[in-house]
Amino acid sequence: MSNNTDNFFLIDHPLIKRDISILRDENTPQELFRAVVKRISIILANEISREFQVTRIDVRTPLELTVGHVLSQSVVLVPVLRAGLGMVAGFLEIIPESKVGHIGLQRDEVTLKPVEYYFKTPKEIIDSVVIILDPMLATGGSASEAVKFLKERGAKKIIFACIVACPEGVTNLTSNHPDLKIFCAAFDRQLNNKGYILPGLGDAGDRTFGTL
Ligand code: PRP
Ligand code: URA
Repeated sequence: MSNNTDNFFLIDHPLIKRDISILRDENTPQELFRAVVKRISIILANEISREFQVTRIDVRTPLELTVGHVLSQSVVLVPVLRAGLGMVAGFLEIIPESKVGHIGLQRDEVTLKPVEYYFKTPKEIIDSVVIILDPMLATGGSASEAVKFLKERGAKKIIFACIVACPEGVTNLTSNHPDLKIFCAAFDRQLNNKGYILPGLGDAGDRTFGTL
């Protein structure tokens, strides 16, 4: 994992390099696209969970009493609809005890500003590690809004997990929320004039759900 700033983490992993290439390929069919988003999400979850604290407990093996551990804080996953939904299964694979909230945000195609259409999160966000899931960090508008909503509802420890980020999105999100940790699987060159990441992978929601 390379750490470009204190709160920005680009995960450097051979399996991610292979899998990002599959996502980028315009010929990758929807079924494979979803499967690969899940695989990358498992690796992201594995890296992000290094941040978690553990509490010591007693565990009795069949032979003796020993030291074990449980997670000190509960975990709430918050996918940003729609595309973030594709990342949930990978995170649940290795953090199955997580609760899941949802934030519905849709970028206005002209202004590129996010518009909220749904918000439902468990009350536990106040004292949990909250991980926002969204494959694309483009202008950073959606991510900034999602973090703002969660903070307004009391979340204190928030992490943002994405698959592809770009300089514009990281700069915008970190200036709005300097306390936020951002994890990504690829850091791309730039945005085009329609707010799409280059080289990117296209519209993540459309490719996940076949609405091209
Ligand atoms: C995409 C993506 C992010 C957002 C990123 O969602 O999943 O939520 O765009 O762009 P931003 O950083 O410029 O805000 P979109 O609005 O296309 O909705 P969808 O997932 O329903 O397709
Ligand atoms: N949303 C996407 O799905 N893709 C982009 O490249 C930018 C925003």
